[in-house]
Amino acid sequence: MKRVAILCGGPGSEHEISCLSAGGVLSAINRGEYEPILIGISRQGDWMVLPLDYPLSLENGTLPSVSGNYPEVTRGKNGITVDGAQLVVDVIFPVLHGTYGEDGQLQSDLDQLGIPYVGSGTVASEQAMDKSDAKTFFSSAGIAIAPSITVTENEWRRSPSTVTQSIEPLGMPLFVKASRGGSSRGTVKVKELNTFAAAMDEALSFDSKVLIESAIDGAEVECAVLEIDGTPQASIPGKVWIDPQYEFYDYQAKYLDGATRIDIPAPFSAEIIEKIQSYALIAFKAIGARGLARVDFFVTHDGEIIINEINTMPGFTRTSAYPKMWQATGIGYSEVITHLLQSALAR
Ligand SMILES: Nc1ncnc2c1ncn2[C@@H]1O[C@H](COP(=O)(O)OP(=O)(O)O)[C@@H](O)[C@H]1O
Ligand SMILES: [Mg+2]
Repeated sequence: MKRVAILCGGPGSEHEISCLSAGGVLSAINRGEYEPILIGISRQGDWMVLPLDYPLSLENGTLPSVSGNYPEVTRGKNGITVDGAQLVVDVIFPVLHGTYGEDGQLQSDLDQLGIPYVGSGTVASEQAMDKSDAKTFFSSAGIAIAPSITVTENEWRRSPSTVTQSIEPLGMPLFVKASRGGSSRGTVKVKELNTFAAAMDEALSFDSKVLIESAIDGAEVECAVLEIDGTPQASIPGKVWIDPQYEFYDYQAKYLDGATRIDIPAPFSAEIIEKIQSYALIAFKAIGARGLARVDFFVTHDGEIIINEINTMPGFTRTSAYPKMWQATGIGYSEVITHLLQSALAR
């Protein structure tokens, strides 16, 4: 029996989604092999041991979150202590998305503990989270990327006119994105130059680095990567369907019920599907990812495949795209969790 600490919550904006994902993991983890311990991280960043029946699902329209008075978890060089006693943990499953949980900060904390954990390490998480940096890795690995420029807050403040000139070759419409954003926050579609400055301000309110990208006219396609016995494998890809009332896959569309759906398999030729899978694996390796990742692409009408981004801790509820794509590929939710724990323990 291995003891698994499932971590959820955190100070990031995806606190509640993390709780939902952790609830899924807790319900599906193979209890014959693994003994789960639930550790919640409050919005303030306090770690606490939660009871296994702590509510982690959507109840009466309210999303779960971590709060309350529970035994405090102290982290140190020799692991985790609770009320002064060592808490023996063989492996950690951090189920946190976005800022703090997916950008390398939590991973760096976990490295200090000396306990193996599921998913990418500190550096890969940082590289994946930074859309601008990640594109450099993808492009060097031979994957097509959308034309873009990266602008820092200083460059923008110093000379908005220089920046405005430099975006001309990108054409219109554009996507202006916080380089280290997520959940479509800080992402603005710009159709006319006169809204560009406002879009820059919006993106800069999330990050001091902004990625300005040509809009790609194509389908959004996702592919799940899972490390099985040391070898990353790509799932059958899915195509994201977005209610046409939404201009793009924005925050509202992502989290409002019924506004999006994933169609698996994505309706493309075998040749395109194979290419997507191979690019997903190349992207995974280029970033130095471990365990799992969801790699997102655009597929244009002429069948051109352009990578959009990689998520090293994608949404992980039973009904999230990542487990669904594995389900369609023949690996169930519990089995995916087992592979992730085995990969982490093997390191
Ligand atoms: N270059 C682009 N062309 C077309 N749509 C885009 C582009 N960049 C982003 N989008 C749209 O914005 C959404 C969010 O952008 P994305 O880069 O995936 O950031 P996030 O990390 O917030 O998911 C995408 O799912 C897509 O709908
Ligand atoms: Mg995205």
